[in-house]
Amino acid sequence: MIEITSNISLQSIKTSDHELLFSLMKEIYPPAYSHFWEDDGTWYVNTQYSKEHILKELSEEKNDYYFVLFKNEIIGNFRIIWDKKLEGLSTEKQVKLHRIYLHPKTHGNGIGKKLLSWLEEKAKNTHYEIIWLDAMNEQPQAFKFYKNLGFKYHSHEFLDFDLLHDDVRKMSQLYKKLG
Ligand SMILES: CC(C)(COP(=O)(O)OP(=O)(O)OC[C@H]1O[C@@H](n2cnc3c(N)ncnc32)[C@H](O)[C@@H]1OP(=O)(O)O)[C@@H](O)C(=O)NCCC(=O)NCCS
Repeated sequence: MIEITSNISLQSIKTSDHELLFSLMKEIYPPAYSHFWEDDGTWYVNTQYSKEHILKELSEEKNDYYFVLFKNEIIGNFRIIWDKKLEGLSTEKQVKLHRIYLHPKTHGNGIGKKLLSWLEEKAKNTHYEIIWLDAMNEQPQAFKFYKNLGFKYHSHEFLDFDLLHDDVRKMSQLYKKLG
């Protein structure tokens, strides 16, 4: 267990937690993204959080995958991939924030900000120079959150998932220089 503050902590996800992670994401993904999808995001959650896919992500090199706990209750997920590089950015030491989803009942309480500053400190202490991530342009809450924290636009792409509505396909790569 990693204690971020007296109320916020991170608990490593184990392979035996796959069902717990799936049920958590079935609950917290749709409120933020169901309107992006023709099927309310069911296909996406079933794919990204299938047992097979979770086990694959847990087995990947240099990844840290956590449950986020607030007052000892699991309220989100948080996944980091060390040394994952952003195409077109030549800086040596880069870390990708791959997933951060928090329960809607906790939004706006500073939990996301605390997690990001914890990651920033950890990355700086181990001489990483860049944190980057993918963010959906049509999710203004998350976009504003990253912008407030000093993330800058780097590039974008359009996701080609069949069930995604056309007007929300744009995904940007955002980065922050540490130091
Ligand atoms: C995006 C997310 C991780 C942010 O975490 P959070 O704990 O809600 O954010 P915080 O409370 O730390 O907010 C930090 C800043 O972001 C902004 N912000 C957060 N929630 C906001 C909201 N609902 N509306 C407007 N701004 C908001 C605020 O400006 C805040 O700045 P402040 O401290 O100066 O007030 C979280 O809301 C979330 O999980 N959203 C749904 C899933 C998602 O989109 N994840 C991102 C995938 S890329």
